[in-house]
Amino acid sequence: MSTDMLFRPIQLGKLALPNRVIMAPLTRARASEGHVPTALMADYYRQRADCGLIVSEATAVDPLGMGWYRAPGIWNADMVAGWRLVTDAVHAAGGRIVAQLWHMGRLVLPDYIGGQQPIGPSPIAGEGETFAPRPPGDESLFLPMKPYVVPREMDHGDIDRLVAAYAQGAANAMAAGFDGVEIHGANGYIIDQFLKSRSNRRGDGYGGSLGNRMRLLREITEAVAARVEPGRIGLRISPTSERKGMGDDDPGALAQAIGALCEHFGLAYIHLIEPIASGFMDMPEHPVMARLRASYSGAIIQNGGFDGETAAAFIAAGQAEAISFGRHFIANPDLVRRLREGLPLAEANMDFAYVGDARGYVDYPEWSAAG
Ligand SMILES: Cc1cc2nc3c(=O)[nH]c(=O)nc-3n(C[C@H](O)[C@H](O)[C@H](O)COP(=O)(O)O)c2cc1C
Repeated sequence: MSTDMLFRPIQLGKLALPNRVIMAPLTRARASEGHVPTALMADYYRQRADCGLIVSEATAVDPLGMGWYRAPGIWNADMVAGWRLVTDAVHAAGGRIVAQLWHMGRLVLPDYIGGQQPIGPSPIAGEGETFAPRPPGDESLFLPMKPYVVPREMDHGDIDRLVAAYAQGAANAMAAGFDGVEIHGANGYIIDQFLKSRSNRRGDGYGGSLGNRMRLLREITEAVAARVEPGRIGLRISPTSERKGMGDDDPGALAQAIGALCEHFGLAYIHLIEPIASGFMDMPEHPVMARLRASYSGAIIQNGGFDGETAAAFIAAGQAEAISFGRHFIANPDLVRRLREGLPLAEANMDFAYVGDARGYVDYPEWSAAG
């Protein structure tokens, strides 16, 4: 089957895309140790700017939500200036880029926040372990790993501060020249922690019923929409994911409620991680796409395990308006061309996915007939 469907222009809210190949958010940990974006990052994004839309790597809106060595933030002026290098480079190359706004909640190790206990909806730890900061003088390639800890249950002051941090992060993103923002509601981070029944055991107005579990997302979306026009806001979700101790009693109902919220605010798109066979996340037993379509009339970007042919087939079947690619973008800066011309895809060296500098980051060559 041809991949032509991927190369039809599309409008996502106010964002006009020349094609439907989206670069999925990829944390690559090349910011400074102070979480400031660098010129190297600008180079990396510029190399990939011919896709329809770049979703930036997850970008923390608040120091308490930052638990990743050398991931970028967007809460201070240096970070805004750093991101300006990236957005200018992408725009000069003819591209578009939105900032993925992030708070890790219970998945932040105390090591990143001066020994404090991280915050979350309920005192329940995430499952598994994550990268700890690099100890001073440590020269090894890989970072040490540590298990997640039990978070402190957030009070209403914490929740108000979180909502305000998202609003400020969104305003900062626009000041840094982004074309819009993507609220990160996926992958077990703080919004997902509130949305899902397994991680949210609260007895107040932010927990219990589905409507209550939706409340944080509703408040954040409303606050962000007061700073950025809704046609420039997307939402990323992974309602069926059970990674890191997540899980919901009824992902279909959750998806439908999220769709209704996005419809209400008039968001530009929903970015759904519902893998077809990704190995990144298990294929869900009961896909939720139909439930999203039932409540949301805007564009849906699907993600998870696609190649050019499956992506075009999904769009042709009305299963998505656009498809995002994650891992393929690591080793194929010219992924758009390779998909259009049916050229072979290079394999990423995942040793350098989350560590290193230029190596394994900006040194993947474009395709050449000579090899
Ligand atoms: C190295 C790496 C970093 C990632 N970082 C992020 C991130 O910052 N934000 C996010 O929402 N998802 C992140 N993901 C998930 C990807 O966006 C995507 O959902 C996943 O790779 C599955 O899509 P794929 O099969 O096209 O790779 C990351 C995945 C990888 C492999």
